Amino acid sequence: MRVAVFSTTSYDRRFLDAANDHRHELDYYEPSLSAATAPLAGKAQAVCAFVNDTLDAPCLERLAEGGIRLIALRCAGFNNVDLKAARANGIMIARVPAYSPHAVAEHTLALILTLNRKTHRAYNRVREGNFSLEGLLGFDLHGKTIGVVGTGKIGQVMLRILKGFGCNCLAVDPYPDPDVEALGVRYVSKAELLAQSHIITLHCPLTPETHHFIDEAAIRACRPGVMLVNTSRGGVIDTRAVITGLKSGAIGSLALDVYEEESELFFRDRSAEIIRDDLFARLLTFPNVLMTGHQGFFTQEALTNIAEITLENIDVFAQTGRPVHVVEMA
Ligand code: NAI
Repeated sequence: MRVAVFSTTSYDRRFLDAANDHRHELDYYEPSLSAATAPLAGKAQAVCAFVNDTLDAPCLERLAEGGIRLIALRCAGFNNVDLKAARANGIMIARVPAYSPHAVAEHTLALILTLNRKTHRAYNRVREGNFSLEGLLGFDLHGKTIGVVGTGKIGQVMLRILKGFGCNCLAVDPYPDPDVEALGVRYVSKAELLAQSHIITLHCPLTPETHHFIDEAAIRACRPGVMLVNTSRGGVIDTRAVITGLKSGAIGSLALDVYEEESELFFRDRSAEIIRDDLFARLLTFPNVLMTGHQGFFTQEALTNIAEITLENIDVFAQTGRPVHVVEMA
């Protein structure tokens, strides 16, 4: 099949080419996919898209007009796709449901440890000959209460890691899992998780129910000085409310790998550009905020799995008219 691959970088090409082994004709495009760039798909029969591509109704209509019948997402989340419009336009959506929950959980741990022990600041200090420890005080993770929101694949790996550190783990999930309870994790209400946790880490998908899960009221209900960590999707926290919480001290520290408006910023070198997003720019000014640009998934193992499962979706669609991991409408 001929496949138009959007939002591509050098690493996408490298891993997709290796997995493809010349089976399909892959046309690589650097721009992200939107209604404006959809015509680039040209004569392709399938499109391969990523997390921040805008697969809204106008984009899907254009792709359908061009003959696209499959969109193979090379990610797990599909909150950027208008599924109703996809169905109306006869386009199937495939995704990569799991590629390495370890990659995201381990990155989350890196953020927690860095933010707590301030190794990002210590690194710079030592390079400048400043060996003062003022301002670098952290706390033991051992014995602390950690609240995990969403105990799916990533949340479960996170809980196993945290249990290894000797943490007391609480969880919130509408579908409690006995395997999680067997780890000694207690499912509690959102109110109890907020009130008890020293650290709250988010591992749920972005849905209408989880949109702004952490808002002004939730921050008020948190333990004062809580560490908040979001490696799920930006929209799960209300950025304005979090900035207010950081200013008042209600939030003691914040780690983000995702941001509500990240599609305008992430996955590109913008170091010579002016950042026009004032909320993002404000976040950058806090010494107790640590941000990475949606790199939780970025390991060799995850990229290999993403490429292989994406190609498998395309292979099986070419043979049967239905990809392996099809996204069904709820
Ligand atoms: P999963 O589908 O295995 O688990 C999600 C869990 O969240 C499920 O157990 C579900 O019941 C739970 N959930 C749903 N609604 C909830 C609610 N209202 N409150 C609490 N829990 C709720 O998904 P997985 O693989 O663990 O991924 C989780 C999220 O991580 C993804 O949806 C995606 O947004 C994000 N992600 C981030 C990456 C990164 O690079 N930073 C990479 C991959 C995923």
